[in-house]
Order: sequence, then structure tokens, then C-alpha cells
Amino acid sequence: MARQFFVGGNFKMSVVLCGVGREHAVNGSVETIKKIIGLINDAKLDPKTEVVIAPPALYLLLAREHLKPGLEIAAQNVFDKPNGAFTGEISVDQLKDSNITWTLLGHSERRVVLQEDDQFVASKTKAALDGGIGVIFCCGESLEQRESNKTIDVVTSQLRAVKEKVADWSKIVIAYEPIWAIGTGKVASTEQAQEVHAAIRSWLKKEVSEKVAEETRIIYGGSVSEKNCKDLSKQADIDGFLVGGASLKPAFIDIINSHL
Ligand code: 13P
Repeated sequence: MARQFFVGGNFKMSVVLCGVGREHAVNGSVETIKKIIGLINDAKLDPKTEVVIAPPALYLLLAREHLKPGLEIAAQNVFDKPNGAFTGEISVDQLKDSNITWTLLGHSERRVVLQEDDQFVASKTKAALDGGIGVIFCCGESLEQRESNKTIDVVTSQLRAVKEKVADWSKIVIAYEPIWAIGTGKVASTEQAQEVHAAIRSWLKKEVSEKVAEETRIIYGGSVSEKNCKDLSKQADIDGFLVGGASLKPAFIDIINSHL
């Protein structure tokens, strides 16, 4: 069974404003989020590609209201407890109540800046899957870890924490995002990305099952652009992208259509 190509747009907290000859990032806003969604709604998108966008939590409902049916919305995070006194958190049921069908989890910006560890990310992954929403599970190594040949160890231990809590992988998309490639303009080479994606797939085959290895989408994130997406998309184990900065620009449409 061919894996359906998957492109996610992680809006993070910003949008990129394009001026004459220069670009700069500012906070997302009602106006800018509506503009980006308008761009996506009006574009001709490859119908075979699954598209999910992840705006900041405050704009999830706005995004769901404006984004055309058939395209899905992800939260950038969700909590692992069902309800209660957890100031500032959002539950899986609250996402479902708002027709938000996906969440990102384990993004390196949360692992590093907010010090989320593998266990916490795995526990949130379990909560999201148990509640019936899809998870774009992010994993990836730092430059220091890559330079000391620890890439596969790091990525597989992030995945192992999930394996210990989760039996059904059918609603997980794995996003391999090397930290050194995020927001730096330094994309992993097609060989570097393919090598890690293949290693993740063989880990799934050995540690979970052949079926899960064959069916799980493994997408790449880190400085994906309209220029590098075509080559990356041709790799055997790259099943799509998780796009940061370029998801806020018309380039996102080219990336969605890179598999045509
Ligand atoms: P950039 O595409 O801006 O490098 O960000 C990647 C990312 O972190 C997506 O989650």
C-alpha cells in the first residue's frame, strides 16, 4: 500500500512578512492567519496530498472556520490529562470539540526551550491517540549529537518512549526534524535525510512490526523550501514535510504540490 504524501505547516508563533527585497517575522494575528489560509484555499492543491496546518492555539477555531473542508488543523501541543486544574493547558477533548483532528507533539522547540522530556512527550502522544486525534510526532538530534554520531540513538530513544506507551501507530506521523536544520536555512542533504528516515523505518520494523514500518508516514522538517522539496520528496523513505517558515508564504503551495 502506497503511503499518502503528507505536508504539515507549523506556523509556530510567527508569520513572515514579505516586503520588497526583505522578509521579517512578526507574531501571527487574526489578519495574517486569515491571509495565509486564503492563500491555501485559493490554490490548486495536489488532491493526493494530505495537508494539515498548525496555527497557535489562540487561532485554532479561527483557522477551522476559514480553512476549506478536506484540509485539517493541528494544535501545536496538547496536555496529557483529560481535565482539571491545569492553568494554560488544553485537553484532547477540547481539541476534538473544536474539530481539531491533529496535534504536533515533541517539537524540539518544546523539548529544548520548555524542557519536555521523552516520557512527557510519549505520555501526551498516548493521550492524544487514546482520544482519537492524530499525532505529528517530532524527533531529531542536535548538531552536537550528530557530530558525535548519536543521531540514530537519539531519534530511536525518542521513539522508544512512545513504543512503551502506545500500541496503535496508525494515527502517528513521524516528523524527523534535525535541530540544526530548523530555521537555519541549512537543510539536511537528501542523503542525510533519507539515511535517518530509512533507519527510523527499520527501527519500526524491528521494534514494532513490518506493517507499521510499511504504513507509517515519516516526514522531514528543517528549512524545507520550494527549492529543495522536489529532490527530498523523491527519496524512498520521505513521505512528506513539516514546514516552518515556508508554510507562511506562497512557497507552501509548491511544497504541498512537490510530489506531483
Ligand atoms: P523551518 O522550516 O522554519 O526550518 O522549521 C521547521 C520546523 O520546525 C517545523 O516544525
